[in-house]
Amino acid sequence: MPMASYSTLSLTFLILSSLLIFTINASSSEQQQEPDILLTFKSAIDDPMNYLSSWSNTTTTHHCNWTGVTCTTTTTISSLTLQNLNLSGEISPSICQLSNLITLNLADNFFNQPIPLHLSQCSSLNTLNLSNNLIWGTIPDQISEFKSLKFLDLSKNHVEGKIPDGVGSLVNLQVLNLGNNLFSGSVPNVLGNFTELIVLDLSVNPFMESEIPSDVGKLLKLEQVLLQRSGFYGEIPSSIVELKGLTFVDLSQNNLSGVLPSRIGSSLKKLVSFDVSQNNLFGYFPNGICEASGLTSLSLHTNSFNGTLPNTSIANCLNLERLEVQNNGFVGDFPNNLWSLPRIKLIRAENNRFSGEIPESVSMASQLEQVQIDNNSFISKIPHGLGLVKSLYRFSASLNGLYGELPPNFCDSPVMSIINFSHNYIAGEIPEIKKCKKLVSLSLADNNFVGRIPVSLGDLPVLTYLDLSRNNLTGEIPLELQNLKLALFNVSFNRLSGRVPASLIAGLPALYIQGNPELCGPGLSNSCSNEGSDRRIAGISKLACALISLALLAGILSLAFGFYVIRRSSKRKSETGIWRSVFFYPLRVTEQDLIMAMDEKASRGSSGAFGRVYIVNLPSNELVAVKKIPTFGNPSFKTLRTEVKTLAKIRHKNVVRILGFCHSYDSIFLIYECLEKGSLGDLIGKGEFQLAWSFRLKIAIGIAQGLAYLHKDYVPHLLHRDVKSKNVLLDKEFEPKLTDFALDRLLGETAFQSSMDSKSASSCYMAPEFGYNKKATEQMDTYGFGVILLELVTGRAAEQMDSSEESLDVVKWVRRKVNISNGALQVLDPKLSSSCQQDALGMLEIGLQCTSVMPEKRPSMFEAVAALQSLGSKTRLPSLDLSASSHSVPV
Ligand SMILES: *[C@@H]1O[C@H](CO)[C@@H](O)[C@H](O)[C@H]1NC(C)=O
Ligand SMILES: *[C@@H]1O[C@H](CO)[C@@H](O)[C@H](O)[C@H]1NC(C)=O
Ligand SMILES: *[C@@H]1O[C@H](CO)[C@@H](O)[C@H](O)[C@H]1NC(C)=O
Ligand SMILES: *[C@@H]1O[C@H](CO)[C@@H](O)[C@H](O)[C@H]1NC(C)=O
Ligand SMILES: *[C@@H]1O[C@H](CO)[C@@H](O)[C@H](O)[C@H]1NC(C)=O
Ligand SMILES: *[C@@H]1O[C@H](CO)[C@@H](O)[C@H](O)[C@H]1NC(C)=O
Ligand SMILES: *[C@@H]1O[C@H](CO)[C@@H](O)[C@H](O)[C@H]1NC(C)=O
Ligand SMILES: *[C@@H]1O[C@H](CO)[C@@H](O)[C@H](O)[C@H]1NC(C)=O
Ligand SMILES: *[C@@H]1O[C@H](CO)[C@@H](O)[C@H](O)[C@H]1NC(C)=O
Repeated sequence: MPMASYSTLSLTFLILSSLLIFTINASSSEQQQEPDILLTFKSAIDDPMNYLSSWSNTTTTHHCNWTGVTCTTTTTISSLTLQNLNLSGEISPSICQLSNLITLNLADNFFNQPIPLHLSQCSSLNTLNLSNNLIWGTIPDQISEFKSLKFLDLSKNHVEGKIPDGVGSLVNLQVLNLGNNLFSGSVPNVLGNFTELIVLDLSVNPFMESEIPSDVGKLLKLEQVLLQRSGFYGEIPSSIVELKGLTFVDLSQNNLSGVLPSRIGSSLKKLVSFDVSQNNLFGYFPNGICEASGLTSLSLHTNSFNGTLPNTSIANCLNLERLEVQNNGFVGDFPNNLWSLPRIKLIRAENNRFSGEIPESVSMASQLEQVQIDNNSFISKIPHGLGLVKSLYRFSASLNGLYGELPPNFCDSPVMSIINFSHNYIAGEIPEIKKCKKLVSLSLADNNFVGRIPVSLGDLPVLTYLDLSRNNLTGEIPLELQNLKLALFNVSFNRLSGRVPASLIAGLPALYIQGNPELCGPGLSNSCSNEGSDRRIAGISKLACALISLALLAGILSLAFGFYVIRRSSKRKSETGIWRSVFFYPLRVTEQDLIMAMDEKASRGSSGAFGRVYIVNLPSNELVAVKKIPTFGNPSFKTLRTEVKTLAKIRHKNVVRILGFCHSYDSIFLIYECLEKGSLGDLIGKGEFQLAWSFRLKIAIGIAQGLAYLHKDYVPHLLHRDVKSKNVLLDKEFEPKLTDFALDRLLGETAFQSSMDSKSASSCYMAPEFGYNKKATEQMDTYGFGVILLELVTGRAAEQMDSSEESLDVVKWVRRKVNISNGALQVLDPKLSSSCQQDALGMLEIGLQCTSVMPEKRPSMFEAVAALQSLGSKTRLPSLDLSASSHSVPV
């Protein structure tokens, strides 16, 4: 027995100890493995900035302390966060050998590949963040294998196709973010499966076309639903009122129609932001949105009300900060309670047909910053309570039925910046304005104001736009207004009298004083009846004549040097305001002629985000192209003239010449030489792009030379900033010339950026880094140039808008094809003869380098010129290799 028990014991010990050894082995081998797994993962990754230098088997740093690695307490890796490290290359499946990996965050890098489905083998992965990379391709149905995922973020990539039904299997999802991609088709009817979902983001998928699935009402934990700018149509499902936890709702800029679900306000008590702007919604606003329980309307009309109403009456929407319902067809009374919510910051309801009043209780909206209710049917006095809101910086309510007098405190908010009460029925005098020292723009046009222009306006240091036109104002224009740096001063059509202050006229970009028969002064039909000043005026005009003839003489002289300047400054008190012009070339045309000639017929397409182009036939029978650029009164004339001159002095055979420009308060007309063959973009866009290879090469070299000149040879160095085939014009010899260059210098950086932003969402000429790096670089121009090369080689337009499977931009289309063996030959334009195949492949290669994702891998424009010229020399001038490759740029 003891013997037996001993042997049993020893056997047990043996088994136990071997088990123990086994576990020790296993765990130690696991610990050795984790660094190796990381190193394998790293070896597939491109890390140009060497952020992963700590990932190395030669350092003594424990791998849990490597960049981006987080371990659990037991030193197994639980999370990899390699965000914003400029990484590219391949996301290797080896990472799934980390059996406890919960989080993989590769956001804000340059991974350029399809969705890494193999990661579904990471059995414990619950967070996958690939946001803001270059992920492409469709989501296959196998996405359903990611059973464990709770947070899936594929936003800001180029994923396309329909969202597959398979996502319905990801029943644990809490965050689903597919925003900012190229998805198309409709949302599958599987939303009801996401019972844990908190955030649903399908925003900015412009090719999507879908109704909002009605089972959205089953997502009882949903807090954020972001579907803006994604092609949603149809009605907002009424089930949305079941989602009592909603805080952020953005359905703006879709094609939604119908009425708002009736219980929406009273059910969504936690709302913070509600945006349904820019849809086709109509009908009455839901009865009782944000309504107080018990109290249905709150309106106080006494001007002595001092703003300490009890706030217990407001029951709902206590958290609402932003309400945006503008640009729809809503009718009926605007819900009164919205005006006095304790947290409300923004109310935008312009361009509807709302009626109703602005209540005194608006004073309780102590966080209110911005109100825009223009173009509605509000019939209301302007409440005294509005002046008690100290955070208000914008209030615009033009085109309504506002009446009564302006309360004296209407501009008491210390941060007030924009006030627009134009086109209403407000009467009485304009109160003196003292407190709002930050006021930039005041428009009271087209009301029934009487009395004088308040002198205190002259004490508002940043007042820039002042429009008091079409009232019944009397008296003189206060001299104090000369203290201001106004850009717009409009007092036309009042009953003002007396002398117009001289310096007010002199420095103003836009002055409108017509329709005041009793005003007098230089340049007006009614010169003031003061002898001395009359003589002075005569003197001035004599001097002006002398100057003009001098200028003419100088012009004729400088014509000899190929440079001709006449400055004309005319003040026309017409609709078009004051025009000033500078010509660099003897154009026999007046501003009036230009404006008359620019009718719709002359308009050529809708070229460019920066304005229209008109082809104008001058009286001398010359054709010129005139580009009209709205400036919103930004740059001063002096700056503008300097900048245009900078651009107009460029003389290069591949840059379009600027012949002159005219300028008024709100627009610039740039006059360019006109080229016969139109733009390269239009030529390629026509579908039958037949150009022979030698012309394509010539065009490519010409553009490259033009850009190289702007970048490096011209002083000051310029960036084009909008390189695309539509901005390449061709003369009758197919010599290319760049146009629309360096418009940032005319518009100012901010205005330029915002125009670019509004169009770049869809533009594939924009370098990928444009999204996060707003500072313009030469490499961004190079990228645009690379896209043009790809257009020339493939004969495809950069952006093809057909709905078929092939609706990719040319960069992605080419990249995808050239990855397949022999793919390079397939992308070449089939219309090219086989004899130029070798050159075409060469240009393709240069195009791919220029469009490379990493800016520093793109060649300079000089390198591009040299590379393209060497292509040309090989075919056409085989014996003159040396001379042809010297890349001198003709100036
Ligand atoms: C480190 O890793 C490299 C490649 O992964 C290998 O060649 C080398 O032998 C390793 N060095 C040590 C000290 O483990
Ligand atoms: C990581 O580094 C910190 C301090 O640098 C150290 O205290 C810690 O022990 C290290 N962790 C591991 C697992 O080596
Ligand atoms: C990524 O690379 C660009 C260009 O080299 C550089 O300007 C940028 O700072 C890098 N970003 C990070 C996060 O290092
Ligand atoms: C993914 O990363 C981005 C970029 O940092 C971040 O804004 C986003 O919230 C992350 N997504 C999730 C689901 O955590
Ligand atoms: C919804 O989830 C269930 C499991 O909870 C699954 O059986 C079903 O297939 C899912 N539906 C879809 C459309 O994926
Ligand atoms: C929007 O919907 C209406 C019908 O409700 C339709 O006629 C119109 O074409 C749609 N617009 C767009 C841009 O889809
Ligand atoms: C405002 O009204 C309250 C209550 O009627 C009163 O106590 C207070 O003195 C008033 N404040 C001012 C500034 O008139
Ligand atoms: C307004 O209501 C909130 C929440 O009910 C309360 O905390 C606050 O004290 C009230 N303020 C006033 C001035 O009554
Ligand atoms: C201006 O005042 C005159 C006289 O008081 C009046 O006849 C006229 O209707 C007023 N015009 C406007 C636009 O209010």
